[in-house]
Amino acid sequence: MNNFNFYNPTKIIFGKGTVGEIGKEIRMRNVKKVLLLYGKESIFKNGVYDNVIKSLKENGVEYAELGGVKPNPVLSKILEAVEVARKENVGAILGVGGGSVIDSAKVIAAGCIYEGDIWQAFEGKVTLDESLPVFSVLTLSATASEMNAFAVVTKEDEKKKWPFSAGDSSYPAVSIIDPAVQTTLPVEQTVNGAVDAIAHVLELYFDGSDNTDLQDELAEGMIRNIMTHVKVLIEDPENYNSRAELAWTATLALNGLNGTGRSGGDWATHTLEHSLSAYYDIAHGAGLSIVMPAWMKYVYSEKPERFAKFASRIFGISNGSQEKTAVEGIEKLKSFFAEIGAPISLKEVDIPENMIPELAANAALRSPFGSLKKIDNEAAGEIFKLAYS
Ligand code: NZQ
Ligand code: ZN
Repeated sequence: MNNFNFYNPTKIIFGKGTVGEIGKEIRMRNVKKVLLLYGKESIFKNGVYDNVIKSLKENGVEYAELGGVKPNPVLSKILEAVEVARKENVGAILGVGGGSVIDSAKVIAAGCIYEGDIWQAFEGKVTLDESLPVFSVLTLSATASEMNAFAVVTKEDEKKKWPFSAGDSSYPAVSIIDPAVQTTLPVEQTVNGAVDAIAHVLELYFDGSDNTDLQDELAEGMIRNIMTHVKVLIEDPENYNSRAELAWTATLALNGLNGTGRSGGDWATHTLEHSLSAYYDIAHGAGLSIVMPAWMKYVYSEKPERFAKFASRIFGISNGSQEKTAVEGIEKLKSFFAEIGAPISLKEVDIPENMIPELAANAALRSPFGSLKKIDNEAAGEIFKLAYS
């Protein structure tokens, strides 16, 4: 087990009927006015907007509001929001929605303090460590943005979908996770969320580190739990227990716990997927179910024993040789993605094969990336080819 620091300052309020607690939590922290940020329409349809407004009013928290954050959120919206937040003199940002809204809230919160060009922080040219406080009401379990310090945003003109963090200041102060508000999710969004959470667990599991027995047990348990409950939800979207199981597992998948003692994760699959989202605006989870098995095929021979462990612990495969077991495990994962309705090839989502070189070059703008095996432009192209059909 590697040395590690584990720090996570986000207070989580979890459970049915908890959305109305947000106002009190904000008031307790002496914030007088927030920018309420949201996506397009879901929070109006499922009552979350009304509950949040009621809670803010009851607790005397003033608000300015801005909607229209899109999935695969964009820099231009963030710059617009920073202007509104400054003009309205808000003391915090409250994101109500999925990962796209909460990620945007984090960048806006840092952008309210930093006077320069915020994109420079994405480029790694400046390091930020200050933000307005961020609060969140989560409506889609997938990214764990509600309990981590990361954000991912696209700079549209350059087709760069890149990560951001203003260090510890980017952790939400408080996040409300009410699994009941997720019953209104379209089935494909529930599936996307499950795939994303599985990918987070696997990118940590396959980062090349050893002597992580406890972390592996946690990771394998999380994957099994996600697999079980996403299947229940496909049949029965209103099943509260499965909503709750999926929600908390997705949060724990990327809130730092699962990465303790490891080598920081691999993240090549995420880097490759972000190029698909940047070019084709496909849902993050849908891109991951296409790329993850292809990446696994490309890298498993670096550490076949680890891929065989995955195959045996998750799918009960024991095929004599490590090599065969590993390969069968990858195929089983791909079949599982197909079974829950997630796309498993570029072809399936109409991404043309002749775009592979451009997509690979985009992913490799900052190469090499990945940790188990270093991925450059050429390797990225090979992985996309494996993902084609
Ligand atoms: O805009 P509205 O109308 O709200 O609809 C949203 C959106 O269209 C809808 N939705 C959300 N909650 C709903 C709902 N519809 C019905 N009922 C509800 N309760 O779902 C759609 C997708 O929302 P989005 O926020 O984009 O999804 P997700 O949570 O999967 O976030 C994906 C984004 O997070 C980034 C991804 O790259 C992507 O941009 N990631 C962030 C990470 C992080 N902060 O740590 C890590 C991840 O790996 C990921 O990269
Ligand atoms: Zn992800």
